[in-house]
Amino acid sequence: RRDGKGKYNDVPSSCATCSFDLIMSDRHPNIQSGSTSRPRYSAGVHNSRRPRSTTPFPEFPDLKTHEELYNFSLDYSETFWGTLARSRLTWSKDFTTVTDSSFETKTFGWFHGGELNASVNCIDRHLNERGEEPALIWEKDEPGESVFYSYRKLSETVGQIGNMLKNSGVKAGDRVTIYLSNSPTAVATMLACARIGAIHNVVFAGFSANALAARINDAQSETVITANTILRGGKLIPAKKTVDEAVTHCPCVRRVFVHFRTEVEVPMGKMDINMDKAMASEPVDCTVENRGSEDTLFMLYTSGSTGAPKGLIHSTAGYLLYANVTFKHAFDYNIGEKFGCVADIGWITGHSYVLYGPLSNGATTLLFESTPQYPDPGRYWEMVERLKLNHIYLSPTALRLLLKSGDGYVKKYNRSSLRKLGCVGEPLNHEAWEWYHKVVGEGRCDIIDTWWQTETGGICISPRPSEVGAEIIPAMPMRPMPGISLALVDNQGKETDAEKGALCIKKPWPGLARSIYGNHDRFLQTYFSNAPGLYYTGDGAHRYNNSHFQIIGRMDDVLNVSGHRLGTAEIEDVMDDHPDVSETAVIGFPHDIKGEGVYAYAVLKDERKSSKKEIEIELKSMIKTRIGGLALPEIILFTPSLPRTRSGKIMRRILRKIAANDFENLGDTSTLADPDVIKFIVDKHKELF
Ligand code: WT7
Repeated sequence: RRDGKGKYNDVPSSCATCSFDLIMSDRHPNIQSGSTSRPRYSAGVHNSRRPRSTTPFPEFPDLKTHEELYNFSLDYSETFWGTLARSRLTWSKDFTTVTDSSFETKTFGWFHGGELNASVNCIDRHLNERGEEPALIWEKDEPGESVFYSYRKLSETVGQIGNMLKNSGVKAGDRVTIYLSNSPTAVATMLACARIGAIHNVVFAGFSANALAARINDAQSETVITANTILRGGKLIPAKKTVDEAVTHCPCVRRVFVHFRTEVEVPMGKMDINMDKAMASEPVDCTVENRGSEDTLFMLYTSGSTGAPKGLIHSTAGYLLYANVTFKHAFDYNIGEKFGCVADIGWITGHSYVLYGPLSNGATTLLFESTPQYPDPGRYWEMVERLKLNHIYLSPTALRLLLKSGDGYVKKYNRSSLRKLGCVGEPLNHEAWEWYHKVVGEGRCDIIDTWWQTETGGICISPRPSEVGAEIIPAMPMRPMPGISLALVDNQGKETDAEKGALCIKKPWPGLARSIYGNHDRFLQTYFSNAPGLYYTGDGAHRYNNSHFQIIGRMDDVLNVSGHRLGTAEIEDVMDDHPDVSETAVIGFPHDIKGEGVYAYAVLKDERKSSKKEIEIELKSMIKTRIGGLALPEIILFTPSLPRTRSGKIMRRILRKIAANDFENLGDTSTLADPDVIKFIVDKHKELF
């Protein structure tokens, strides 16, 4: 049916034979020469011995293959997204236009005239049929302690928190900063914000007081929600203490709600409110604030190549629809299954695939509070066995870490419940892919390597975006999701047929962020100026067979450390503030586990007060307090100067090569202002490694 009235509950369950039919290929399909501007799926990619697969989109039963569905999604994109918006989401008021978005004119709106509420879509509409089913499984830090939260219980908690926030003066459009780790309270707080129309701003609870303060101030947030302590890997993390420090620098803050995760007492000041007590006296029904489609659902900070972190703005309707649809189809999720995304709610993965994607689909979603190695490297697999998880979604860094601990920790536990093995955040290397597939999944589960970004709202490239039986090629996310039209561009910002280039997205899709909070110009500049008319992702990619994509990595000065984005400029700014440091250059280098590690070069002033050893310790401590532990450099190399071009530009390319032990390919260094410095840095580097 193409009339948009297809019922979501009618989704045919996927064919089990096909979904387990993973065709292994140890080489990439023959690269065909020539290229059309749109990747079309050639029949040659599919294996003819397998039954012809059907697309699991019930709204488009006539579209039998992924190729047909994909082409339809681009050729008739308004019908495609308009139909899905009506069938997958519940609206209090229907929309009048599907989209006026265009990357040429830099307009971004979707579903104008429509009204809806994200918490209603994630909770209320499931209550009749699934009220007593588990919405959340909270896997607490303490191994083996899990708590099931039904949709009904979640609804009541959201209602109480919503009323509490409203009674304390939080209004629609206000920014509420959440500094909590994964727990039902955290998820309910995000949904309570959505219910009353407030904008949640979750800050990863590993960020320091300074980093938190910067985000609170930029968002002009009056309300902060935190816990007395956070528990992670058996350690108590003093979250309230960090918030206390932060808010002394935040004149905008008027109230701090404190949830008591543990028994630990904390000093409570004038602005502090015991959240558990305050919400307990509230009624469980909370009036819904319906939102316009384009009203902001949340903001989330992420690092850029220059300047302070950007508060990306996500819309209510477009974001929610995109999280909903990509969750369902990237993972082929079937109702009743248990979905285990182990990401923290402080990152976009936690927003889209712990919370909004799963809950808007009526799924059962895991809230993982712990770490992959606590109490030992068998934690994930013990949890899979005990909770009978059907899907797990994790980071390549965690996989590489666990791979090093050996197969014993995996094989000890029964993983037969697992059906799909997902990962995101960084390139998944071949070794980790094979281990995930053969050892963890016993060769019977699809590996779902998904590529996307905080900005894209949800998954954009994924191996089986709509077709159950399609071939999966190791170590690449492969295929664009329906509605996503990819392009590679050259150095001039022009689309190219070459196999390698800067990854861009050609056509608007509903999940794209709409702006950077308080700085729309920076939004346009960052994403829409390098390749005019296209969304510029900042990643480099390799295209195989004119259709399958592999991500090479960031092309800008952004690092990806354990799947977390860090701007080199942010780290340099902190180091430059040290009184003995005259200049710095921070780059990434290949790291066995983390994917990329932080490598810092520092030039010291001639007259300095401290020794190099002292300065190194001080620099690390400054980075830890100003940004957070995740930005700590693996190496700090002191050098008398940095390699520069005659025009004064630091040659980062050379610094990267040295850090990667790639001394043979330093390129032409004769144009440098001071070629001797290279020899110094290379010798010093060899000493340090
Ligand atoms: C950057 C986005 C989106 C959730 C997690 C990170 C890198 C992401 C992959 C992948 C290779 C990947 C890219 C991207 N990235 N997924 N499957 N293969 N690289 O979100 O912090 O916004 O970072 O992560 O470089 O641009 P983020």
